[in-house]
This record gives sequence, C-alpha cells and structure tokens, in this order.
Amino acid sequence: MEELLIRFAEEEDEGSCALLDPQIPSYFLTRRIEQREVIVAELDGELVACLRFEFLGARAPLISLLAVRPDLQGEGIGRHLIEFLEEYLRDLGYNALMCAAREGSPDFERWLHRLGFQECGFLSGMHPDGSGEVFFRKSLE
Ligand SMILES: CC(C)(COP(=O)(O)OP(=O)(O)OC[C@H]1O[C@@H](n2cnc3c(N)ncnc32)[C@H](O)[C@@H]1OP(=O)(O)O)[C@@H](O)C(=O)NCCC(=O)NCCS
Repeated sequence: MEELLIRFAEEEDEGSCALLDPQIPSYFLTRRIEQREVIVAELDGELVACLRFEFLGARAPLISLLAVRPDLQGEGIGRHLIEFLEEYLRDLGYNALMCAAREGSPDFERWLHRLGFQECGFLSGMHPDGSGEVFFRKSLE
C-alpha cells in the first residue's frame, strides 16, 4: 500500500467524508469535524476511510460510523483508524472505547470481536424500520 496518513478531518474534507458517510446531515458532519470527532485515512492525497465518534453522556467515547472505501477493505485501514483513536483517547485519560453496530451486521460484529471489542448492550427500535443497535466495548487499559 502507498503512503497512508491517519489524521483528524479538516473543514475542507467535509465533501469527501460525506461520500463515505452519506446518512449524516451536513450540518451535523460540520459540527463533528469542528469538534475533532471525525478521523480520516488519506492514501496518496485521497480520503479513503472515515471514522466518526462522539461522547455518550460527555463521558464514554462511542464510534458511531466507520467506513472504508469498498475496494480497499481488508487492507488494515479500519484497524489503523481504531488504533489512532485509541491512542488519542488514552492520552486524554479514557479507559474504554465503545462502538455501535446496527442490528443484523454479523460481519461487522465479527470484525469488532477480532479487534478486541465485546458486546455490552442493546438499544431496541432505534431506527425507522424498528431495528436496534448492538453496543460493544473495548478496554483501553
Ligand atoms: C468494517 C470495516 C470498517 C473494516 O475495515 P477494514 O479496513 O476493511 O478492516 P481491516 O483490514 O483493518 O481488518 C482488520 C482485521 O480484521 C480482519 N477482518 C476483516 N474483515 C473481517 C470480518 N468480517 N470478520 C473478522 N475479521 C475480519 C482482517 O483480516 C484484519 O485482520 P489482521 O489485522 O489480523 O490482519 C470495513 O470493511 C467497512 O467499511 N465495511 C463496510 C461499512 C461497515 O460495515 N461499517 C460498519 C458499520 S458503521
């Protein structure tokens, strides 16, 4: 793989992030980028993956979106994004990271297990079609 750079998204990345994260309203994405809650992977100057997170109850960091460009999946980019976030959070003193997966995403759930996450809860009926979200947690200690 050519040079991969993992970094926080900047204002000018918004269009590229929106392509990877099309469900999020643009005003919301703008705010997340301003608050340093979007991390991107840049390969040869092009944005190829995006991770969006937030702080539940101002306390628990939670990944709400992770997307790698389809033709580059399985090359370690998702793992690099998670590791970048883990290091950032450890430096801030957090001892755990959470991630949400839409109900019925067995591939993503297996992937999360592979990276050391364990299931820790379920929120039913969160989506318009009635499906819920499964929550996972990983210790950063
Ligand atoms: C899920 C996703 C983010 C993973 O990113 P990725 O860059 O493809 O994953 P990586 O290459 O970093 O995989 C890391 C490890 O998991 C392994 N892996 C990949 N897919 C796996 C799967 N379905 N189950 C278990 N392990 C898996 C890889 O072999 C790799 O192992 P290694 O580090 O020991 O070699 C990416 O595939 C994606 O964008 N999928 C579509 C969107 C999506 O489902 N997003 C999640 C909902 S928000």
